[in-house]
Amino acid sequence: AQKIIIDTDPGQDDAVAILLALASPEELEVLGITAVAGNVPLPLTQKNTRILVELSGRPVPVYAGCDAPLQRKLITAEHVHGQTGLDGVPLFEPSHPLEAQHGVDFIIETLRREAPGTVTLCPLGPLTNIAAAFLKAPDIVARVKAIVLMGGAYFEVGNITPAAEFNIYVDPEAADIIFKSGVEIVVMSLDVTHKALTSRDWIEGIRSLGTKVGEAVASWTDFFERFDVEKYGAQGAPLHDPTVIAYVLRPELFSGRKINVEIETQSELTLGMTVADWWGVTDRTPNALFINTIDRDGFYALLTERLARLP
Ligand code: BDR
Ligand code: CA
Repeated sequence: AQKIIIDTDPGQDDAVAILLALASPEELEVLGITAVAGNVPLPLTQKNTRILVELSGRPVPVYAGCDAPLQRKLITAEHVHGQTGLDGVPLFEPSHPLEAQHGVDFIIETLRREAPGTVTLCPLGPLTNIAAAFLKAPDIVARVKAIVLMGGAYFEVGNITPAAEFNIYVDPEAADIIFKSGVEIVVMSLDVTHKALTSRDWIEGIRSLGTKVGEAVASWTDFFERFDVEKYGAQGAPLHDPTVIAYVLRPELFSGRKINVEIETQSELTLGMTVADWWGVTDRTPNALFINTIDRDGFYALLTERLARLP
């Protein structure tokens, strides 16, 4: 199995991503999950992560990481995810514990312990924890196998400002560190996630699994959809974060281009923009595989098959 660390800010789409990973033990060994401040503040994202692990029935250690971006004030997204971050389902008080170790130290210790080139990082939120780990322990950077992250946009441009995608916008300095790190990076951008829209059929199929997980995922997706459907008249909601886990499981479902991506950290107008050299108009070295297409049916079939394995 491939070893991964999930870094997350649940978030209904983070929830589906975490469940997909925990439902795939033959292919993925989830070494731990680190929570970060993002969609909602850290006390909620770490608690939500523990709720999800408990719901999956597949215990893995959960750590709390950074409660604010490296240099900026936290920006949250309750307007999308609700006050709890996981609105749509009545939440319970999890008994799954929070580890005492800081999430950043867990990332550092794990990368130092595991053989070099064997651990893939899967960030589903702002890149604060990963960047903080790279800053605190530069020796771990060369030990990372790859970073497969949800963030950024090129053709689809922004969802939090006209120029920027939420995860990159919240902590652009952290994103800048990651994109300059030299680690192999795969970017699941809005260009691909906006092609991974939910459908009524899929949601009803998941609900009809008749399981606790099926009911919860259907209700979370219903809640998540209302934002895009009501605001934009969209057909469904982009299920962003599960594309990260799906890419690790089935890269053949996706395609993109190896290009240079740099992060805007100065301009007020375009802060957090992923400046993607899609047409190769500079001589800047490609540093990321920027994904922009998906086999949508294959992706949703994978999700259904895996979620059906959970209680
Ligand atoms: C990203 O922002 C969050 O709201 C979602 O969970 C996803 O990670 C999409 O821009
Ligand atoms: Ca997220």
